[in-house]
Amino acid sequence: MLEKLKALEEEARAAVDAAADLEELKGLKVRYLGKKGELTALLRGLGSVPAEERPLIGKEANDLRQKLEQMIDRKESRLKDAGKSGQWEKERIDVTLPGLPTVLGQRHPLTLVLDEIKDIFYGLGFQVAHGPDIETDFYNFEALNIPADHPARDMQDSFYINPGLLLRTHTSPVQIRAMEKRAPQLPVRVIAPGKVYRRDDDATHSPMFHQVEGLAIDKNITFADLKGTLLLFAREMFGSGQKIRLRPSFFPFTEPSAEVDISCIMCGGDGCRTCSDTGWLEILGSGMVHPRVLEVAGYNPKEVTGYAFGMGVERIAMLKYGIGDLRLFFSNDLRFLKQFS
Ligand code: DAH
Repeated sequence: MLEKLKALEEEARAAVDAAADLEELKGLKVRYLGKKGELTALLRGLGSVPAEERPLIGKEANDLRQKLEQMIDRKESRLKDAGKSGQWEKERIDVTLPGLPTVLGQRHPLTLVLDEIKDIFYGLGFQVAHGPDIETDFYNFEALNIPADHPARDMQDSFYINPGLLLRTHTSPVQIRAMEKRAPQLPVRVIAPGKVYRRDDDATHSPMFHQVEGLAIDKNITFADLKGTLLLFAREMFGSGQKIRLRPSFFPFTEPSAEVDISCIMCGGDGCRTCSDTGWLEILGSGMVHPRVLEVAGYNPKEVTGYAFGMGVERIAMLKYGIGDLRLFFSNDLRFLKQFS
């Protein structure tokens, strides 16, 4: 009997040592120590052992049970530890690996051009002013001396929200808002960049585009100030050799009014397809602020004068970068946008 116990111990020790995982170890525990296990089976034969030997064998059997339990417990914690370090190995971070590069975006070409325009006018002492995209009929038309029968007021040309409210068709209403806010303070020097909306949609017209409005009000401002400012702007924006040309024009909110051309940036003025052989490219509208506009906005036209201008940001960007289709600005095509990094 004692030998059988000894043999069982050896067998169990070898099996536990060899157990590869917790699952197998659990099986061994049942096999050797379970109610129907081998040790129990062995002790069932105790009845045939002479009475005087029984206490000894009983003690040995109990010792063996304890030994097997300890053996299995130790193996269990070893297997668990091994499992953990395997986990650690998987999670280890190699701090010497190169990092993942962050994909850098870049500014939109319209933002680039707008930032340049702002910088030029900051240098001349202008501040940025803003107005709402949803504008009242009063600011968008009435205060700017635009008569009731002007085509821009037509439902066909503007996006109306209701009869008195529309998406602004130009940034000129910000002139009025900027003056109202400052009057009677002098001087006023503001630019107003922003989105404008018109019912147009083709390769050269978009229902939404961007303008920058300019406004300067002070005592003794003349048309020469306007011309000098615009010449400086053209040279900063398109190159120091630039010339400008002012052509008489009409806007209800300026008198006199002028359309401003720059010498063609493609041919330098010799005539080409871009400038339709004229040598000139139109870039903005401008003029001396109409006395009625000054008055509505809180300035006395007998004491102050001013000039105003408005330009399309997309148009400037198309000329500057040689872009042929306006829609490229709004289609979010990365092949296009990535060229401006
Ligand atoms: N608001 C005009 C437009 O959208 C542009 C313009 C012309 C603005 C003359 C001005 C200006 O400030 O003086 O076509």
